[in-house]
Amino acid sequence: MPVYRSALLRFADDGTALYDQDGLLALGPDAQGRQRVLAAGAWHALSPQYAHEPVTHLPGRILAPGFVDMHIHFPQTDVIGSPADGLLPWLENYTFPHESRFVEGGYAEQVAEVFVAELLRNGVTTALAFSTSHPASVEALFTEARRQQLRLITGKVLQDRHSPDGVRDDTEQSLIDTEALIQRWHGVDRLGYAITPRFAPTSTHEQLRGAGELAARYPDVWIQSHVAENRDEIRWARELFPAARSYLGVYDDFGLMRKRAVYAHCIHFDDDDRALMRDTGAVAAVSPTSNLFLGSGFFDYAGADRVGFGYGLASDVGGGTSFSPFHTMLAAYYVGREGQTKQGLSLSPQQLWWQHTAGAARALGLAGVVGNLQPGCEADFVVLNPEATPLLARKTRQARSLDELLFALIVLGDDRVVQETVISQAKYGSSA
Ligand code: GUN
Ligand code: ZN
Repeated sequence: MPVYRSALLRFADDGTALYDQDGLLALGPDAQGRQRVLAAGAWHALSPQYAHEPVTHLPGRILAPGFVDMHIHFPQTDVIGSPADGLLPWLENYTFPHESRFVEGGYAEQVAEVFVAELLRNGVTTALAFSTSHPASVEALFTEARRQQLRLITGKVLQDRHSPDGVRDDTEQSLIDTEALIQRWHGVDRLGYAITPRFAPTSTHEQLRGAGELAARYPDVWIQSHVAENRDEIRWARELFPAARSYLGVYDDFGLMRKRAVYAHCIHFDDDDRALMRDTGAVAAVSPTSNLFLGSGFFDYAGADRVGFGYGLASDVGGGTSFSPFHTMLAAYYVGREGQTKQGLSLSPQQLWWQHTAGAARALGLAGVVGNLQPGCEADFVVLNPEATPLLARKTRQARSLDELLFALIVLGDDRVVQETVISQAKYGSSA
């Protein structure tokens, strides 16, 4: 039974961080052979129970939950850093032409390998990802995620109009493909399926209706899309769906608002939109590096909390500029400052970290499963080195509180801080 001795970070149910400077983390297999947390807490309190177990001692390191990325595009790994005047020209000039290459299975497999490796290198152990409109891209990503035992949710993008040749799909076939992929992959090992209309402007009414019907037939499958990201996009959606109360209302009209529905961005909302999110159980994937890079705007944290809908953090690569959860948390901090309703909202480092771990897991409907290191959770964790760079070493040595330590990591950290990413491995067969 693996037992670790190290500093240990985890979260209480209310989102506050629990930190043991000298902590113990004990793991053991469940009935499926997957490693789960058996015990987590202070070394002095728990170690007598594990006196006969070999201990991996990691002095100077911090064990923390693997990060959860609520929204990322696997086929945009190589689109990072493509500048444009805004979302729509960025899609037209860079993203759609690039995504058309994923029709070819071999290319998709090659990028899937890089993508999963990059997530793990950055400490991300659970991700909700877009593939492309080509079923081969979904096959490639699921296959690679399964090989690496990543907890991954993805789906075939639905986009049957206002999309160029090469990425546009056929309405009827797209729904047949979606259902076949759900049946083939949803619930296999750590994999889950997400019904994935790209965004309302690139789907016909028929395609959205079909997506909503599938969402009703498969209630534990996820839904993912984009909404209220950019002002030109919103204008376009309103022209195409004049009967809807708002852009978000389009998804509601087609049965696409429910628990396990994850909408990226959610920037330009009114309170009725926020209440619709809250009342349906849909959640927002807040994507600050993407929103800053594409000039989309600032997520209104105060508005979300006032009305009370769920959200968590996301990289949104390749609109987003980094796979690193540290970069995303720092950008979220800037956005909290800028988007504040002049009331001094300042996200604490504990809140930021929670939004990218246990909070994101809760928003995905995976509370108690991932994103935390409480007993019963799947044992996905990162080994962090708070002295990974000379400046970080100086800064973290001077930290006088947990907040100061976490802030130093968020502001100065990146992939260099992630010394190791450990995945809750299921064991197959008696000799594995
Ligand atoms: N809206 C529709 N497609 C996309 C996409 O690929 N990225 C972002 N950021 N927004 C979108
Ligand atoms: Zn996106």
